[in-house]
Amino acid sequence: MKLSDCHNFQHFRQLAKERLPSPIFHYIDGAADDELTYRRNTAAYDDVDLVPNVLAGVENIDMSVTLFGKKLAMPLYCAPTALQRLFHHDGERAVAKAAQKFGTMFGVSALGTVSVEEIGAMIDTPKMFQFYFHKDRGLNDSMIDRAKAAKFDVMALTVDTITGGNRERDLRTGFTSPPKLSLSSLLSFATRPEWTINYLTHPKFDLPHLSTHVKEGSNVAMSIGSYFSTMLDQSMNWKDAENIRARWGGHFALKGVMSVADAKRAVDIGCTGIMVSNHGGRQLDGGRSSFDQLAEIVDAVGDKLDVVCEGGIQRGTHVLKALSLGAKACSGGRMYLYALAAAGQPGVERALGQYRIEIERAMKLMGVKSVSELNRGNLRFR
Ligand code: LAC
Repeated sequence: MKLSDCHNFQHFRQLAKERLPSPIFHYIDGAADDELTYRRNTAAYDDVDLVPNVLAGVENIDMSVTLFGKKLAMPLYCAPTALQRLFHHDGERAVAKAAQKFGTMFGVSALGTVSVEEIGAMIDTPKMFQFYFHKDRGLNDSMIDRAKAAKFDVMALTVDTITGGNRERDLRTGFTSPPKLSLSSLLSFATRPEWTINYLTHPKFDLPHLSTHVKEGSNVAMSIGSYFSTMLDQSMNWKDAENIRARWGGHFALKGVMSVADAKRAVDIGCTGIMVSNHGGRQLDGGRSSFDQLAEIVDAVGDKLDVVCEGGIQRGTHVLKALSLGAKACSGGRMYLYALAAAGQPGVERALGQYRIEIERAMKLMGVKSVSELNRGNLRFR
């Protein structure tokens, strides 16, 4: 299979599976426990139907949105995800440049493999830094200050990883960061020689935001579940979130809000946005899907902060459904990560280009010229 054969999410997923050693593929592809929430994140969109209008003169449509005070050329952005140089040797560099080409936001993870300084100097489109609250207070302060100095536009504090999700695929494959070449995983690396050669011939794996303070994840191999459970501070509370927001000083979002009560508290502590998200189903399995939970959260706080619907997006029509319910924008990880793994920057560009075409086509077929025309009247729940 080659890149030109990829026309949708599942095709990129297939090509990524062919290219990646299996522990790495399953790290991206897997989720928690029985992966119910992961599957529901996408399936939820099937329970809602679009009701189109016609004869609307749709030769010119505008899909841009304003999020965190910045204009995005499309209503879908690349959510921050960890470890990208494991998926393709260009990692975040490839995703950042592709996002810039499409005028959309790119999120850099605290567990990213290219530094905020480098990404900040590389692209001038909106950038988000994703933050994990660590036990190491020096590390926390250093990450906030570095993202600020690198002129990132938004900080997102992840709030749904207070302990590691039960990712059984990672337990089976022995996936760690950095990857360990064990006797049992040897075969999976040997059967992907291109990946293995690239990994060995490019600069050594690093987590530049963390390795200034901790060795776990960069020099000491650890599963992501154990990293969350041992390195992050489980005492994190609303006061901590408020303090982080104050130190940051700019646009600030909580990533992983699922209840109306928490969405309201996010407003109270001065957040300018929230990501309605269950971490791609990778944390609490059996939790509700982000799309299912979107309407009540928008109703409660949608006029006070920007609500992003994250996770499960595989089609342009999914984006239209979430926007019709009142999300300001959508975001996702796997929706560009398989493409990154499949083909680096050209892969991510192809994926984003396809989402853009799908959103444009769906807007025209729905009879809307701008995102602001989408509303709940466009939808029927089964
Ligand atoms: C994960 C983290 C690192 O879900 O975001 O694996």
